[in-house]
Amino acid sequence: MTVNPAVLNSLPNDLDVLRLPKHVAVIMDGNGRWAQQQGQPRFMGHRRGVDTLKEILRCCKDWGIEALTAYAFSTENWGRPLTEVDFLMTLFERVLRRELKEMIEEGVQIHFVGDLQALPKSLQEEIDRAMVATQHNTKIKFVVATNYGGRREILEACRAIAQKVQRGEFTPADIDEGIFEQHLYTKGISHPDLLIRTSGEMRVSNFLLWQVAYAELYVTHTLWPDFDREAFHKALQDYQQRHRRFGKVK
Ligand code: FPP
Repeated sequence: MTVNPAVLNSLPNDLDVLRLPKHVAVIMDGNGRWAQQQGQPRFMGHRRGVDTLKEILRCCKDWGIEALTAYAFSTENWGRPLTEVDFLMTLFERVLRRELKEMIEEGVQIHFVGDLQALPKSLQEEIDRAMVATQHNTKIKFVVATNYGGRREILEACRAIAQKVQRGEFTPADIDEGIFEQHLYTKGISHPDLLIRTSGEMRVSNFLLWQVAYAELYVTHTLWPDFDREAFHKALQDYQQRHRRFGKVK
């Protein structure tokens, strides 16, 4: 395996370049609490959360991690106050518009996964624009889970497969993990090796239910807006202590 010298230069020297996760997923929890602790309205936490996400994406890219998936909005988040939902939709749109040029220059390939049809039309347009404009980039895959629910994703896959069986495209006996994965939102994207959740909650919260089957979990009490390069470094140190056995014995 050849390692990019630029990666070796920027990677903290206590991390083993050969044992980095290829794909990191993050549940960015604690934005609201962070803002409240500062005596600010909740939306300020989401704003700061975007800066953190940008920093972690940059770290992943600098350190040679191939993919980062971020849980930006769940199918359950529609239940938040309308002002917060509207704020988040506008924020996603603004951030996409503002950051697209830099993402292209930096070689970021952006994907959105989730039930995107239910998002505001103007956001859907911005998402399409960003996905098309970055589709040939190869430095890092950045996957944003928006209006995403793991259960919904699995149900939609089942429905699509059932329709194909009904049309005679394949038989029930043909359905294996490979075929199933072809019908998930994350088709073509590797499974996360490391799932990080900030703010201390020990839950998966309907995130990538199929894909995290063998991910290593890392939970920190740090709130997402405070989850900086150093905190990420610590998560990677912890990951490198783990022995991944995938259900086998050594
Ligand atoms: C959870 O914190 C955070 C969210 C529901 C939103 C996260 C979204 C971003 C950081 C913006 C990402 C933007 C793009 C374009 C990818 P919370 O509000 O549940 O915090 P709390 O648990 O303290 O209330």
